[in-house]
Amino acid sequence: MRNKLALRQPYPVISESEAIWARAQGLIPAGTQTLAKGPQQYVKGVAPKYLQRGQGARVWDVDGNEYLDMNMAIGPLVLGYADRAVDDAIRRQLDDGITFSLMHPLEVDLAEMLREMIPNAESVRFTKTGAEATSAAVRVARAFTRRSKVVCCGYHGWHDWYIGVTDRAAGIPDAVKELTYTFGYNDLESLEDALDDDVACVILEPMTFEFPKDGFLEQVRELTERAGALLIFDEMWTGFRVALGGAQEHFAVTPDLATYSKAIANGMPIAALTGRKDVMRVLEKDVFLFSTFGGEALSLAAAAQTLRELRSRKVPQHLAQIGQSIREGYNHIAGELGIDGWTACVGHPARTLVTFDAKAGDPLLLKSLLQQEMLRHGVLWSGTNTISAAHGVREAAHLLAAYAESLEVVRHAVEAGSVRDLLRGDPVEPVFRRTGNFNVRPRIRA
Ligand SMILES: Cc1ncc(COP(=O)(O)O)c(C=O)c1O
Repeated sequence: MRNKLALRQPYPVISESEAIWARAQGLIPAGTQTLAKGPQQYVKGVAPKYLQRGQGARVWDVDGNEYLDMNMAIGPLVLGYADRAVDDAIRRQLDDGITFSLMHPLEVDLAEMLREMIPNAESVRFTKTGAEATSAAVRVARAFTRRSKVVCCGYHGWHDWYIGVTDRAAGIPDAVKELTYTFGYNDLESLEDALDDDVACVILEPMTFEFPKDGFLEQVRELTERAGALLIFDEMWTGFRVALGGAQEHFAVTPDLATYSKAIANGMPIAALTGRKDVMRVLEKDVFLFSTFGGEALSLAAAAQTLRELRSRKVPQHLAQIGQSIREGYNHIAGELGIDGWTACVGHPARTLVTFDAKAGDPLLLKSLLQQEMLRHGVLWSGTNTISAAHGVREAAHLLAAYAESLEVVRHAVEAGSVRDLLRGDPVEPVFRRTGNFNVRPRIRA
């Protein structure tokens, strides 16, 4: 029996997923290469673990069950799976070659496209992953300012300078940890407390799920200028989603440097560092940023085509429209069920978050039960609505119907005090990546 993208089905059969997972035990530490794709984020024994195939907004797991995907590969698939235009561009490039012994002209083509789209992109460099791009940005800022400290807000990748402020900091020397501090989003005072004359840069996600309040981004811009530190926007999530030029275009605040990845190439691994020409000049000789796959052409071709599609199909506008119908639809359902006092859908429509208040019970258990029930209605969900151009009116309608059915179960369970009992496996674990309360290592001013 295989589930379809339909309402009111049995829980999916996931025996093939479990068999593959068993083979990974003792072989692949942590089991997964991407934390957010790992089984820690799903109800054990109920949710599938491995996906085989995708088309548009739909995916099929290794047991053949079909789902509406609300994660879209944790961000990259902004056009949807197997997008014809992008996949054709990749195939054409594949016929010519994947990677070469000299530079490829697409490096220049793509840099020119980004310069046209992104306000601060006077200069552009490419890396393969988001963490590489943010780390390059930090090194450039340190070289340019000749200062050492980093002040950050948000998640920025697995490298030492950032992970050192989290509780997963094993293997990072104290000397490195001591150079990074944090501040709170929409909390200027916490930023002021963290700034001194050795701060090279302030790096933040310009928006996660909370909107900037009272000119917050403008004031961050002003404070960094006054402190002689560079401002870096980490636009992994906002890039190409809230606007083609990212948050810096949407909120009209221009950072000195910015980093992009995820949606840039509809699934191919590439990231970009953009910035002021005078700052980026340190990359000419002083700062070393080179790697074997830096100019790999399949990803460059995919990125160039993705950017063309994003523009011609007006994808940011589509995400805003569909995303808003999802956000409002969820909150309407919650209101009708009388549970809007403890659950809500929040954030920019391009990517929204479902929240649970602790007054209704352990938010992780509530999220787990909602996830478990969504699986019965053909939806693969783990807390956010990460949508794509392939999520149209029909997909939004199915999603909302699945929410209506599932939230009814959650409401009854809350009222009956039976949330844990209804879970058919261990609940989801906390997300490592915070969605708020970013100030984990503030500096206490002497
Ligand atoms: C805001 C932000 N910055 C940086 C990164 C790191 O990117 P990557 O996982 O491609 O190294 C991520 C990844 O999720 C991210 O969300």
